[in-house]
Amino acid sequence: MLNHIIDLEELSFSDLQEIVRLADKIMKNPKEYSEACRGRILATLFYEPSTRTQMSFQTAMLRLGGQTIGFDNPMNSSVAKGETIKDTIKIVSGYADIIAMRHPSEGSAKAASLYSSVPIINGGDGGHLHPTQTLTDVVTLHHEKGRLNHLNIGLCGDLKNGRTVHSLIKTMSHFEGNKFILISTKELGIPQYIKDVMNRSCCEYIEVKSLAEAMPMLDVLYMTRIQRERFPSEEEYIAQQGVFVLDKEKLSLGKKDLKILHPLPRVDEITNEVDNDPRAVYFKQAVYGMYARMALILLTLQDAKYTYYTGKTIIDNTGCTNSRCITHTETYLPRKFKAHGDLLECEYCDARKLGQ
Ligand code: CP
Repeated sequence: MLNHIIDLEELSFSDLQEIVRLADKIMKNPKEYSEACRGRILATLFYEPSTRTQMSFQTAMLRLGGQTIGFDNPMNSSVAKGETIKDTIKIVSGYADIIAMRHPSEGSAKAASLYSSVPIINGGDGGHLHPTQTLTDVVTLHHEKGRLNHLNIGLCGDLKNGRTVHSLIKTMSHFEGNKFILISTKELGIPQYIKDVMNRSCCEYIEVKSLAEAMPMLDVLYMTRIQRERFPSEEEYIAQQGVFVLDKEKLSLGKKDLKILHPLPRVDEITNEVDNDPRAVYFKQAVYGMYARMALILLTLQDAKYTYYTGKTIIDNTGCTNSRCITHTETYLPRKFKAHGDLLECEYCDARKLGQ
C-alpha cells in the first residue's frame, strides 16, 4: 500500500521490493506500460532547482501515457505573491492526480501532505530527505550489483548535508550484511541520528578520512557533492572544497567489480577521466531513476489512500528547534510532535528536542 511518499521509512519492505520489481518489468517491456496513466496528470512543484528529479518525474509520467503541469521557478507562480504551501497544494491537488514537489525547507513535503487530496511525493525537502533518489539508487544497485545485501558501501564527501546519503543508509541498513564505510572530514561527518539507525539495525560502519585507504574494500562507492548552498559561510565551504576527489589514480585501487554511483550534479569530486571507466554508472543511474519513478507513480496511483502518521500527536506551541524547519516560514502549521521517551520529534523535519 502506497500513500504519500515523504520518507521511505514509511514504506514496508515488501513495498520497496515491489517498486524494484515493477521498475525492472517496465525497463524490460516499456511498451506494455505506455498507456498505463492515460488521462492522469502529474504536477511537479519545484521551489528549488533540479534537472534529474523534475525531468525524470515528467518523462516518467509522459512515458506512462499521462500528462504534466507545474512550475520549476516558484517566482513564475503565485508563490511570488506570497501564497502559502497550504493554499498552493489545495489548488493544485484539485487539478492533478499526483504531486511531486521539492522545497528548500525541511519538512515541507510533510506539511504539503496535510493539505493535499492527492498523493504527495517528496522530491527533496532541504537537507532532510530525498526518497526518490534512494529508490533510484536501490534500483541501480539491484541492476548493477545483482543484489542489495552483503555489500561494502562507501559513502564519500558531504555526509552531513547530503540528504541522499541519509536516505540511502536508512534504506540499505534494512538488508542483511551491508557494511558502511563513511569517508568524510570531521566537519562533514554523518549525523548522530543516522549512526543510531545503523546501530539499531546492527549494520557495521566505520569512519575513515582517506578515500585511497577505503578504495580496496568497497563493492560500491557513493560519491557526493559538497553542498555549498547548505554552508553558513563561504569560508566554511572553501575549507571543505576539493578534499575528496575520485581520479584515475584512486580508481586504480578499487575492485574490478566496484560500482561508482553519484546522485549528481557533480562539481569537482569525480574527474572527467573516470567517466569512461565501466565501473562508473552515475549517468546510467539517472536513467534507472526514471524507471524507479515510473514504478512509483503507477503504484501510488493504483492504491492511493491518503493516510500518513497514525500514532499519537502532541501539539507543542514552543515549536521546532531546527531553524530550517518549514514550521518557521509557514507559521499556520500546527506544531506537531511525536513522543520518543523524554524527547519530542518534529513531525515535519524529524528534529528532536527535550519534552516539557
Ligand atoms: N540527484 C538530483 O536530485 O538531481 P537534481 O537536483 O538535478 O534533481
